[in-house]
Amino acid sequence: MLTDPELYSKLLTEIDKLKINKPIFVKLSPDLNKRQIDILLDISLKHNISGFICSNLTKCDERGGYSGKIVEDKSNSLLSYVYRKIKKSGKKYVLIGSGGIFSAEDAYKKIKLGANLVELITGMIYNGPGLISEINYGLVKLLEKDGFSNVSEAVGVGNKDY
Ligand SMILES: Cc1cc2nc3c(=O)[nH]c(=O)nc-3n(C[C@H](O)[C@H](O)[C@H](O)COP(=O)(O)O)c2cc1C
Repeated sequence: MLTDPELYSKLLTEIDKLKINKPIFVKLSPDLNKRQIDILLDISLKHNISGFICSNLTKCDERGGYSGKIVEDKSNSLLSYVYRKIKKSGKKYVLIGSGGIFSAEDAYKKIKLGANLVELITGMIYNGPGLISEINYGLVKLLEKDGFSNVSEAVGVGNKDY
């Protein structure tokens, strides 16, 4: 993720010129501060972007990025903030929630904060590919319990200041 606004703007301008026919997503770092997020979102809104992935790995030290539970709260807080900012902009974007999903409850939390889709890696590394169907079955039960008939109805319903 680029944090230099000028470079980021240049990159998106060049991507616009390619007239790519597929959705383009920007994956955000959970370590950005609100000012950096605001600047990057303002630039993104002027370009051909379909949505945002919240989030990438977190950098706790110089050894590299960390995934899993350690990134969950930061990712959720970023997702929540980006959802509210986008809502205010009046534009339509797809938000993908990623970071620390190990259960249907974790996925549902991200959906209620504003994720249209969720993505996971670390949960599957620890629990195996069967986790995906477990999450899908669990999500159906959680949605039913709250009176929703599909995921879209639950997107953003729990988004207060996180
Ligand atoms: C082994 C591994 C490789 C990854 N490779 C990439 C990558 O190439 N590009 C990228 O944007 N994110 C990469 N990620 C980050 C994940 O896509 C994801 O944003 C992050 O791990 C948080 O989700 P999780 O907690 O479910 O793993 C990688 C994560 C892991 C664990």
